[in-house]
Amino acid sequence: MKTQDYINREDKYGAHNYHPLPVVLERGEGPFVWDVEGKRYFDFLSAYSAVNQGHCHPKIIKALTDQAQRLTLTSRAFYSAVLGEYEEYITKYFKYDKVLPMNSGAEADETALKLCRKWAYKKKGIAKDKAKIICCAGNFHGRTITIISMSTDPDSTTDFGPFTPGFIIIPYNNIEALENALKDPDVAGFLVEPIQGEAGVFVPDEGYLKKAYDLCRKHNVLFIADEVQTGLARTGRLLACDHEGVRPDILILGKALSGGVMPISAVLADDEIMLTIKPGEHGSTFGGNALAGKVAIAALEVLRNENLAENAERLGKIFREELKGIKSDMIELVRGKGLLNAVVIRPRGGKTAWDVCLAMKDKGLIAKPTHEHIIRFAPPLVITEAQIREAISLIKEAFKQFE
Ligand SMILES: Cc1ncc(COP(=O)(O)O)c(C=O)c1O
Repeated sequence: MKTQDYINREDKYGAHNYHPLPVVLERGEGPFVWDVEGKRYFDFLSAYSAVNQGHCHPKIIKALTDQAQRLTLTSRAFYSAVLGEYEEYITKYFKYDKVLPMNSGAEADETALKLCRKWAYKKKGIAKDKAKIICCAGNFHGRTITIISMSTDPDSTTDFGPFTPGFIIIPYNNIEALENALKDPDVAGFLVEPIQGEAGVFVPDEGYLKKAYDLCRKHNVLFIADEVQTGLARTGRLLACDHEGVRPDILILGKALSGGVMPISAVLADDEIMLTIKPGEHGSTFGGNALAGKVAIAALEVLRNENLAENAERLGKIFREELKGIKSDMIELVRGKGLLNAVVIRPRGGKTAWDVCLAMKDKGLIAKPTHEHIIRFAPPLVITEAQIREAISLIKEAFKQFE
């Protein structure tokens, strides 16, 4: 079968809920993937920052295969020999009292919302069914009905209503708007992405997160950070909130928590919040399964042992500097933090971000537009300086084609 045959098969039998770049991948290693014709690419999407540790990291794959031969899933109806080990490891790693394990990022966000509401009624004393959660325009927290109820993106919401009530949407990176919204005594939480990834890598002003956190403190409102995409070394720190010394009341993790091996997400909080949810009130068949526990421990160990946050910080600076140096009318703006970066594209001669991505693909580097005019660049964090310089030269060659 050739590339087009694979594409045709997916088109025929799969729902058309994605618009992939026309490349069919069959193998990955470190920062590279190979297509079915044997061509090698730099992966500059990293499965939306899930593959921070690089494709098929040997230590993570070993943890996966070792555990897969012992025990995979018990459900939470019973204790498992692994779950407690994982819970101890991850809570000590991030310095929280407790973890609630889930699978996808969306599920972890849902969990955080439920936890926040429960805390609102049990601890803050908000009247039944009155709790509100503040979220930000441009957010992306996943695809469930409740989560899209917070969305301001018509693609996410059109024809999917009715929506879940209880959200106040304010502009991102706007402290005054937050201050205003916090005057409502029924507000229980503020849910925020430290950098808005899907929106196009919007980095808020320095100090925004700290000011927002302090305001939440003042109003007895939970500061909930969705670090599903920004978390886990991607932005040059373990968590993006670490850049401002902010410790979220509720921390949401996903994606790279498994090194891209399987869906693993988690919500972390201290006892005062986490213990408001009692047995039978929330859960997931696969959440906290033994396989996931071992994989997540290995994935977190790799981040630490291989200094991936430091690598992201150092190479991110080189990457942005080099991209800003590209002379192209199509580049309107380069922004980002660590190795989560984006280029805002100015369409030229009918050519768009999609065409730039196709040109980069031909050169041997794959990335994907987000919102039509923005290209996100997020390679696996195991990439070396020599490799990133090679990748930059491919990006430069691709832009040259549009001169
Ligand atoms: C910030 C953020 N939260 C949540 C999600 C949803 O994660 P998942 O696709 O695993 O449900 C994403 C996915 O891109 C995300 O970027």
